[in-house]
Amino acid sequence: MHSTTRLGTSTRRDFLKQSSLTAGAGVLASVPLARFAHAAGSDVLRVGLVGCGGRGTGAALNAMAADKQVKVVALADSFEDRAQGCRKTLQQQKPEQTAIKDDHVFVGFEAYKQLIQSDVDVVLLCETPHFRPMHLRAAIDAGKHVFCEKPVAVDAPGIRSILETCKLAEQKGLSIVSGLCWRYHPAVIETMKRIHDGAIGEIVTIQETYLTSLPWARPRQPNQTEMEFQMRNWYNFHWLSGDHNVEQHVHSLDKGSWIMGDKPPVRAWGTGGRQSRGREPEFGNIYDHHAVVYEYENGVRMYSYCRQQRGAWGDVSDHVFGTKGTCVVLPQYKITDRSGQAVWKYDGPQGNMYELEHDALFKSIRSGKPINNGHYMALSTMLAILGRMVTYTGQVITWEQAINSQEDLSPKAYRFDAEPPVLPGPDGLYPLAVPGVTQFK
Ligand SMILES: NC(=O)c1ccc[n+]([C@@H]2O[C@H](COP(=O)([O-])OP(=O)(O)OC[C@H]3O[C@@H](n4cnc5c(N)ncnc54)[C@H](O)[C@@H]3O)[C@@H](O)[C@H]2O)c1
Repeated sequence: MHSTTRLGTSTRRDFLKQSSLTAGAGVLASVPLARFAHAAGSDVLRVGLVGCGGRGTGAALNAMAADKQVKVVALADSFEDRAQGCRKTLQQQKPEQTAIKDDHVFVGFEAYKQLIQSDVDVVLLCETPHFRPMHLRAAIDAGKHVFCEKPVAVDAPGIRSILETCKLAEQKGLSIVSGLCWRYHPAVIETMKRIHDGAIGEIVTIQETYLTSLPWARPRQPNQTEMEFQMRNWYNFHWLSGDHNVEQHVHSLDKGSWIMGDKPPVRAWGTGGRQSRGREPEFGNIYDHHAVVYEYENGVRMYSYCRQQRGAWGDVSDHVFGTKGTCVVLPQYKITDRSGQAVWKYDGPQGNMYELEHDALFKSIRSGKPINNGHYMALSTMLAILGRMVTYTGQVITWEQAINSQEDLSPKAYRFDAEPPVLPGPDGLYPLAVPGVTQFK
């Protein structure tokens, strides 16, 4: 068992400083150099998983289902119990494709480096969102193909780093497939095609909702340091998850952005707060509702609502209003004309988007035709971060201001005895952002 909790020589802050400021959206333009070591269909592809929780375990199983010559050979997690739990599940469910030796289970903040430096060809990044920019950079620097879960960052320096790394991956001919899984959903793909082909005319307005109940929260356990408590409870701290409008609602913003041709808005404003999430420490410092209006250059507005409150009405949907009709992407995949008459409804196969994204990844590796989802995964995550910036500050913030923001949500050091960037006040409660008081940085 490899166990490391020390940071090593550099912090994420140092790492992000090294990333030059590639502000704006259309930065992925260089010509790929195909550099595929495993193009042959029969070669075994050795996969390592970073972040061995629910999604990571699922992604490893999806990878093995997508390609019978995939073997999961290495695991990395900040916590040993998570890594071992995942190892057991993979061994039980896919014994013939799981080959994780004891010395390929890495634990702690440096575990990702050890995994990337081991003999893996492909890395699945399914850890807590805060770490994605640093881990993606390390994987691409080491020449690995990557499956990269959403969201890809929690702050603008992280997004700038992701954009730079994705450019590098393109130059190296490495694949980066995003976990923004609706991009691989057959019904959504077909519906988007029709919107882009003009089936509802010119787009006027988009409405995106993600209205759900409270997710998990893990109460503090005896003997936990503050860092361990927050790492175990990452969803509820904005420096780790980005807040729920970044962690969860990014899926909806991604569909809205796709409709808009993956171009950034000019500016955003909105309102948000915390009404029904308790003030107990396990609920951290995130909000429980955000309502944000994104204004685009052509006059289109995207109205975006997300809420995590128990007992309230739930709705996860995408409504697009055009000059000739209306489209409901999720959950209906349906287009109606101005009189409300249905003119098209998807009736093709549903498919499993979680497997389809892995099918695409492994086919791209074997065919030598790299996929790079970098542009939209960075843009959609930045939309969500901009949303948090406007709800926390109560200000109108432009895209240019947001993408150039210097707010860096990283701690001074990654150690379990180091201080996280969010600390409880004298009353034991975590301070919340206050619109009109909290400053944009
Ligand atoms: N695409 C989807 O539909 C979908 C669904 C669920 C989750 N997700 C995303 O997947 C990611 C993981 O979510 P989850 O539900 O599996 O959470 P989880 O808490 O079950 O798993 C996260 C794991 O990452 C580990 N981790 C944290 N920091 C780490 C680090 N520095 N190095 C290595 N491991 C680290 C944690 O210990 C934990 O085991 C999140 O980004 C989440 O948004 C995506």
